[in-house]
Amino acid sequence: MNYLAIKHLHVTAAALSILFFMLRAYWSVTGNSLLQKKSVKIAPHVIDTVLLVAAITLAAMLGPAASQPWVLTKIVLLIAYIGVGTIAIKRGKTPRSRGIAAVIAVLIFFYIVGVALKHHPASWFV
Ligand code: HEM
Repeated sequence: MNYLAIKHLHVTAAALSILFFMLRAYWSVTGNSLLQKKSVKIAPHVIDTVLLVAAITLAAMLGPAASQPWVLTKIVLLIAYIGVGTIAIKRGKTPRSRGIAAVIAVLIFFYIVGVALKHHPASWFV
């Protein structure tokens, strides 16, 4: 697969990741039992694995050109997105705390999109 195809896969997986996250966060806040479905629990892992494997492949293809602050910023913030995301979906004790975590996770995600497009850790704020 060439670079552009993998980049396309990466971006598609990122879009699916946030769309599906927002749906699950909504179900988590409203207490919808669909959240307990096996397929609903497994799908995010599949999507996020594709997202990350494509990301690592892109970085590997870029080689030394990938050792830039914005790439490190994306890695750190992806871990933050996943961590805050688990509070929104399951670790948050009340619907309110899960809702707040969900909003923060979505904000982190769109900050990452800015980092990706601007190739800069300051994201939309450069
Ligand atoms: C939620 C997490 C992520 C989101 C939303 C995201 C989003 C994006 C987007 C929108 C692009 C396309 C940029 C463009 O067209 O110019 C992109 C490219 C890229 N991303 Fe990610 N990304 C994420 C995680 C990561 C991680 C963790 C890495 C580091 C290993 C990474 C490495 C890259 C690389 C190397 C490119 C190609 C840059 C280029 O060729 O211009 N991404 N990402």
